[in-house]
Amino acid sequence: MQSWPPSPYRPGNGIDPPYLGDREEQIEAVRAFLKDARNPRNVLITGLRGVGKTVLLNHLQGEAEGLGWLVIDREFSEPDAEPLAFANALLTDVNRALRRLSLSTRLKDRAGNLLQAAIDVVGALTVSYGEFKVSVDTKRRRPGPHRRLDDDLKEAFTHIGELCRKSEYRGMVLRYDEFHVIREHPGSPTLSALLSATSAVQQHGLPLMLMLCGLPPVVDNLARSKSYSERMFTTLVLGNLRPPEDRAALVDPATRLGRRFADEVVDAVMIDSGGYPFFIQVYGDALWNGSHGETIQIADLRRLRPRILATLDAGFFRARYVRASPNERKLMRNIASFGESATIEQLQQASGRRNNEIQPTISALIAKGLVYRPERARIGFTAPMFGAFLQRTLD
Ligand SMILES: Nc1ncnc2c1ncn2[C@@H]1O[C@H](COP(=O)(O)OP(=O)(O)OP(=O)(O)O)[C@@H](O)[C@H]1O
Ligand SMILES: [Mg+2]
Repeated sequence: MQSWPPSPYRPGNGIDPPYLGDREEQIEAVRAFLKDARNPRNVLITGLRGVGKTVLLNHLQGEAEGLGWLVIDREFSEPDAEPLAFANALLTDVNRALRRLSLSTRLKDRAGNLLQAAIDVVGALTVSYGEFKVSVDTKRRRPGPHRRLDDDLKEAFTHIGELCRKSEYRGMVLRYDEFHVIREHPGSPTLSALLSATSAVQQHGLPLMLMLCGLPPVVDNLARSKSYSERMFTTLVLGNLRPPEDRAALVDPATRLGRRFADEVVDAVMIDSGGYPFFIQVYGDALWNGSHGETIQIADLRRLRPRILATLDAGFFRARYVRASPNERKLMRNIASFGESATIEQLQQASGRRNNEIQPTISALIAKGLVYRPERARIGFTAPMFGAFLQRTLD
C-alpha cells in the first residue's frame, strides 16, 4: 500500500491553511495601502468565529513586513479591556516599537539624539500608567494619575512616526487581534483615545496604520467610541469561502501531494461545510488520514463521516452549546426543529412566546456569536450543521 505524506490540512486556530481560499481581493486592497505610506489607511477585519480572520491578519502582517513596515502585534483578551490595562498594553507596544527602532543603524547614524529623546519621553509615559512591565531606561519621570491617554499616545505615535521616516522602516503597523473585547469606558477613554491619537498623527501624514481584527461587535464598539471611526477604516467583512475557492481549498492541497478527491466527495464536503473554512480543514484532514487510495472515494467519506461528526459534536459544537443559558438553549432547539434557520413567526409558534419575549433571547444569542439574522425576520445558526447537531443530541 502506498504511504502518503502527512496531512497538509490545518484545522485549528489561526493556523495557516495549505491553500488560502477566497482572500485575494482583500490582500490586494491592503497591499495597495501598504505601498502608499504617505497616505496612511486603517484596516478592520471582521466576521463570525472561524471564518479565517486571524489567518488573513497574519498574511497581511507578512505583506506589511515584506514591504518594510515595522509591525507590532498583540492578541487582546478580556482583562485588557480595563482602562488601565489597555493603556499599559498600548504604551508597552509603543516601547516595543522604540526598541526595534533603536536597532536601526541608519537611525543611530542619522538621528541618535532624536531616538534618545523619544526613548525618554515614551519611557516616562509608560511608567506613569502604574503597574508597568517593561523596563525602560528613562531620565524623565512624570508623576500624576491624571494623564490623558489620547495626548500621551499622540505624543508617542508622533515620535515613532518621525523616527520611522528616518529609519529604514516605511512606518508602523499596530496589528491587533481579538479586538472586539475592547470597549469604551465612560470617564476613562480607551478606544476613543487610540482613534483620536491615530487620526491626529495620520492627519500630519505620519506613517502609522491600524490593522484591527475581531468579531462583529468590534464595528459597533468603534462607532460608539468615535463617530468618525466609520471613515477611518476600510472594513473587510469575511465570510465562508465562495465557489470555486471553497472547492480549491479542499482539492488543491491534495493535488499538490499527488492525491485527488472524487467529485462526489467534493460536492458532499461543500454541502456539509457550507464553505466554512474550519470545516474544510477538518474534513480534508480526516479524509486524508482515514483513507489510502490515490483517489479519495465517496465510500471513504461515508465510512469516515460519523467519526468526523462525533468529533465535532464533542468539541466544536458542544463548546458553543455550553455558552448558552438554559433559556437560550431552548430557543436554539426551537430553531433546530426547522433546520439550520427559522423565521420569527415559526419561533413564536414553536415556543408559544410573543415576539417581544423572544427578542431579548435572540439578542443575547447574537452577542454570543451563536446565531445571526441572514435576512429580515429570520434567525440562523452561525456555524453550518449546528441545527443538525442539536437534533442528534438531547442535551
Ligand atoms: N482562506 C482560507 N482558506 C482555507 N482555510 C482557511 C482560510 N482561512 C482560515 N482557514 C482555516 O480555518 C480555520 C480558522 O481560521 P482562523 O483561526 O483564522 O479563524 P478566525 O476567524 O480568526 O476565528 P476566531 O473568530 O475563532 O478567532 C483554521 O483551521 C484555518 O487554517
Ligand atoms: Mg482569530
